[in-house]
Amino acid sequence: MDLLIKNIKQLVSPMGSKPKKGKEMGRLSIKEHCDILVRNSVIEEVGYNLELPLDFEGHVVVADNLVATPGFIDPHTHIPFYGFRHDEFFMRQAGMDYMAIMKKGGGIVNTTKAVRKASLHDLIEFNLKFAGEMFRKGVVAFEGKSGYGLDTESEIKQLKALEKIEEQGYQKVVKTFLGPHALAPEYEDYESYLNMILEEMLPAVKKAFPNDMFADIFTEEGVFTLQQSKRYLEKAQKLGFKIRLHADEIKDIGGTTLAAELNANSADHLICIQDKSISKLSTSKTIATLLPGTSFFLGKSFAPARKLIDEGVAVALASDFNPGSCTINDPTVIAHLASSKLKMTPEEILTAMTLNAAAAVSLEKDWGTLEAGKYAGIILWEIPDYRFIPYFPSHQMIHTVISPKKALRVKACV
Ligand code: NIG
Ligand code: FE
Repeated sequence: MDLLIKNIKQLVSPMGSKPKKGKEMGRLSIKEHCDILVRNSVIEEVGYNLELPLDFEGHVVVADNLVATPGFIDPHTHIPFYGFRHDEFFMRQAGMDYMAIMKKGGGIVNTTKAVRKASLHDLIEFNLKFAGEMFRKGVVAFEGKSGYGLDTESEIKQLKALEKIEEQGYQKVVKTFLGPHALAPEYEDYESYLNMILEEMLPAVKKAFPNDMFADIFTEEGVFTLQQSKRYLEKAQKLGFKIRLHADEIKDIGGTTLAAELNANSADHLICIQDKSISKLSTSKTIATLLPGTSFFLGKSFAPARKLIDEGVAVALASDFNPGSCTINDPTVIAHLASSKLKMTPEEILTAMTLNAAAAVSLEKDWGTLEAGKYAGIILWEIPDYRFIPYFPSHQMIHTVISPKKALRVKACV
């Protein structure tokens, strides 16, 4: 794809190919009246009064009244899932809590039943709709995971669905294996399920998908212990997986500290992270991926984003989009919650949803900023300035979303 975007009213982007830590997250490059030249789906130049190259065969977009930002990267979703769990949502409103529902055989395992029954085709069709919806909301790349199959065949089916969603949709899709997400219904205890994962599932997944893939685990009191998580993650690393963790969501049992010690790409949730884990994180390469949509959806407290950023941690934001703990996938709503609940600045939020989000899933070399050499993942907004992203959530403010595969004109009405 070739594209020349002319005379952009305001171009706003973090810069570079490394995650921004602490107060660096607030530094954005803001340019006015500049152009972006895209050739072969890659940004060739960002500059002023760029000439049309002689062999240019693409489109020219006049952007005098548009704001340009990098496309959003959503580094934590639970796509592909199947079916919904609205009953549980209302059970919670009536007083039952998330873990209590899970212990009664509901929660994640409820979705497992639906995912196991669904064919590969069902899974692809059901989730392509969500991927398309997210694209129109500006998400140019997202991470999806298994974790609702809980047996080897169904876990691999979920990962295959992700591969097909990437092929058939417009976005870059990063795959994560999350076999240790809950206790598979066939097992009595977490230890025996984990032993099967280590002996059978993890090697089978590696064999089916020899290239880049993440391995994730739900490290939590009453789910997988710290020791089990360590055993799993070390084995995954040995097999060549990159690692990440669901950690400190309900209680800090050391998940984030383990993530930092093992150089995990990311530790996600961190609602209950303790001060000693924050300092571990600030001196590590691990990114804190915060999911304020989940706190909001479950009516829980919010991760201490201010403390994390002030201590020098690199923070990313994600949706956690799934049928149980967060049905929100709109990046502007996540941005709004990051402002109102996490007290992040608009600049920190943009960095957290683009460059740092890309780094959480190892995409920071090619994605997440508007700079020469990066893939064309661009949003053109019909808004007065970039601070409307957290301020005016869920309105149709997007004019055009551009990914390397597609430039989609979305009609804005703000
Ligand atoms: O990130 N915490 C564990 N896993 C998911 C929940 C998935 C579900 O409830 O289906 C999460 O919130
Ligand atoms: Fe999650």
